[in-house]
Amino acid sequence: MAGLKLNWIFFINLTICIVLSIAGRDFYKILDLSHGASTHEIKKAYRRLAKELHPDKNKDDPDASQKFQDLGAAYEVLSDTEKRRMYDKCGEECLKKDGMMNNNMDPFSSFFGDFNFAFGGEPQHPQETKGSNVIMELYVTLEELYSGNFIEITRNKPVMKVTKGTRKCNCRQELVTRNLGSGRFQMIQQSVCSECPNVKVVNEERILEVEVESGMVDNQEIKFTAEGEPHLDGDPGDLVLKIQTLPHPIFERKGDDLYTNVTISLQEALLGFTINIKHLDGHIVTVQRDKITKHGTRIRKKNEGMPNYDNNNLYGALYITVDVEFPDTDFTEEQKKEIEKLLQQSPVDRVYNGIRGN
Ligand SMILES: *[C@@H]1O[C@H](CO)[C@@H](O)[C@H](O)[C@H]1NC(C)=O
Repeated sequence: MAGLKLNWIFFINLTICIVLSIAGRDFYKILDLSHGASTHEIKKAYRRLAKELHPDKNKDDPDASQKFQDLGAAYEVLSDTEKRRMYDKCGEECLKKDGMMNNNMDPFSSFFGDFNFAFGGEPQHPQETKGSNVIMELYVTLEELYSGNFIEITRNKPVMKVTKGTRKCNCRQELVTRNLGSGRFQMIQQSVCSECPNVKVVNEERILEVEVESGMVDNQEIKFTAEGEPHLDGDPGDLVLKIQTLPHPIFERKGDDLYTNVTISLQEALLGFTINIKHLDGHIVTVQRDKITKHGTRIRKKNEGMPNYDNNNLYGALYITVDVEFPDTDFTEEQKKEIEKLLQQSPVDRVYNGIRGN
């Protein structure tokens, strides 16, 4: 009896093992995300983890390369709507069956621009011939800089394609000795070239995905290695995108702080008011006062500014400057009396030259 039970447990264990290995890797877990994660969250998580798990940065971890591959596979599947749908239905095995797993995902295929740190290892060769860099302004909204966004840009990139025939390449000056006969020799300098396959320049359309990260600032650069101009005998240059913020109708940015203006009525200035300001990501910032608010009052809201680029958990402040709008129509004689009674302000006898320093 006991033996039978043990057998059963063994069998169940075995079944679980088989099911687990068939089910394949848990891509959500690899990316540290819930099943409801948005495409944006997937991209963000991937980008963060790709930096963290890069094998060059984890030389002590024997599994580093496997982890990095898992990450690439997780991203490949979850960032693609169709593959993700299949995966959600029946796991990795399903995708493999349908040949939808390429496994050739190169996480650093200038996809999001280059990661902002050097991986070490290969030294750079500054003397190498390179095509020119292409520098472009990338206009983004304040909303995008607040929440972060992924932008697709289409690049019509001139690339070299091998074509018929050969051309002279790698030309250099070499000294050659020429035999002039009767024991006389002459050393002359001669240009020596190799024969390379001929190339022609063709336009190739490529879609680059750019991540606008939360808190980026004007003139910050996003580099795409080798997406610049091609070079006949060397590597292509880089494509450099420079962030430029488009003007915003409601907010102005200074560093990590935001500035805005609100207009309230004279009545609100005297009695108090509540104003709801829609922030850049749609959340509502409520400003409430029950005291008298003078024209030009500046209200500071902590942590309602821009996220800091280096630490997205830190936010600047939001400064709200209050304009007071006076009524357009004059009061009647009775109303004037009422107001006088209410305010009881004695005349302020203040004459000044109008150039009041602050
Ligand atoms: C707020 O008002 C000041 C003064 O009129 C102006 O200079 C500033 O640009 C305004 N800010 C915004 C965000 O419109």
